[in-house]
Amino acid sequence: MSAVVNSERIPNNVDLASDRKLQRALEAWQPKFLDWWRETGPEGFQADDIYLRTAISVDHEGWAHFDYVKMPEYRWGIFLADRVADRTIGFGDHLGEPAWQEVPGELRNMLRRLVVTQGDTEPASVEQQRLLGQSCPSVYDLRNLFQVNVEEGRHLWAMVYLLHSHFGRDGREEAEALLERRSGDPDKPRILGAFNEPCTNWLSFFMFTYFTDRDGKYQLLALAESGFDPLSRTTRFMLTEEAHHMFVGETGLLRIVERTCELMKRNANEDARAEGGIDLPTVQKYLNLWYSLSLDLFGGEISSNAASFFASSVKGRAKEASYDDHRALDGVYVIDVPHVPHVPHVPAAGGCAVTGWRREEVPLRNAMNEVLRDEYVADSQRGIDKMNRVIEASGVSFKLSLPSRRFHRSSGIYAGLHFDVDGNPLSKEAWERRRDAWLPTASDEAYVRSLMEKPVFDPKQMANWIAAPAKGLKGKPVDFEYVRRG
Ligand SMILES: [Fe+2]
Ligand SMILES: [Fe+2]
Repeated sequence: MSAVVNSERIPNNVDLASDRKLQRALEAWQPKFLDWWRETGPEGFQADDIYLRTAISVDHEGWAHFDYVKMPEYRWGIFLADRVADRTIGFGDHLGEPAWQEVPGELRNMLRRLVVTQGDTEPASVEQQRLLGQSCPSVYDLRNLFQVNVEEGRHLWAMVYLLHSHFGRDGREEAEALLERRSGDPDKPRILGAFNEPCTNWLSFFMFTYFTDRDGKYQLLALAESGFDPLSRTTRFMLTEEAHHMFVGETGLLRIVERTCELMKRNANEDARAEGGIDLPTVQKYLNLWYSLSLDLFGGEISSNAASFFASSVKGRAKEASYDDHRALDGVYVIDVPHVPHVPHVPAAGGCAVTGWRREEVPLRNAMNEVLRDEYVADSQRGIDKMNRVIEASGVSFKLSLPSRRFHRSSGIYAGLHFDVDGNPLSKEAWERRRDAWLPTASDEAYVRSLMEKPVFDPKQMANWIAAPAKGLKGKPVDFEYVRRG
């Protein structure tokens, strides 16, 4: 296993000290990262002691250390999963060749773009979640928010390490730019749509960690297959941390649903809002919103970029080994492409309703985004099933569901067109008439935020709209003082 150095300014298992130039460059980037963290990281909690997990090695058993730390003193490090001896490339045109330890010249731009796009999402989510601490439902949840935030910061480090170590001057410039863009800033926005959306309440936060972090999981799984070995190794270790982010999302949503049903049962009219809870139709609307935003992150259904990534062996499928044909040269993926009269190639043309469908046999490589999205949809459904079991067990008749993947999309073949949550085409007018039944309205948002006006800083308390978790973290009780306010 690679030796870990935790005593240096930048903890790492990549023998950073042996490359003075790289070490100096990263040490010069570090204070800029900290400036960014202080400016855009969790507001109002930087001086508090938080009970956090810190990655200290890639050892399965003891990879993380738990203790109190003030967030600006968190030890953000660079950790790559151990090298697999004689690893060969598992897919694409370079199938069977030894994995690359250096970036092949002809793939440099493509790889840089992938690393930058992944890297950009990490600080973006910290920016989106910056104010949430001030409305936390419990100290337990507050700590989980900060855990997610510091680890997204470490994921930024993971990508910046690659940029600095393998992409020369361009890479260093990209690393600077990653600290300059800001989520939601009209002049210098983050690269991908969902990462510019406001995440202004805890229902959104749990939807974000359930759906948007799960997109992250699938992107990381696809990149973990990369022929570029350092990218594969860094993303493999990121997945270890990512699992907790989705745990936060899934358990957060389960606890909301559990509490809502409890409150409904207490009310003669099963009115959750009357009892100060989040009613299930509102949960469904936020689900529709964050699911559709997250689906967009996978890119177009029919994509020549996706085909190039796969052909070049830079980005595979999630769990590539589970497929039989790793070249994917022969297969097709059948997609029903919406037909719009007169302006078939102008999807943004408002007012046009879909009049029919054209069945297209897309060469498999060009459908790789859709293949990855399929895995994501199935994985997303699993948690929804759990939520429905909680609802059913409580005796409430309501079912949460994922909307059609055509619903509310802004990239790919459905962009600019209008579909209901079941995927049926609608005119723009009909869609607008019914929009408020499907997506959160200003008054839903105001209601949800009204429940969260006062943060809960007493470890013994839990906000009224969410159930307590079944257990605490790392063997600690639920009411442990996970955050010590300074
Ligand atoms: Fe991440
Ligand atoms: Fe994450």
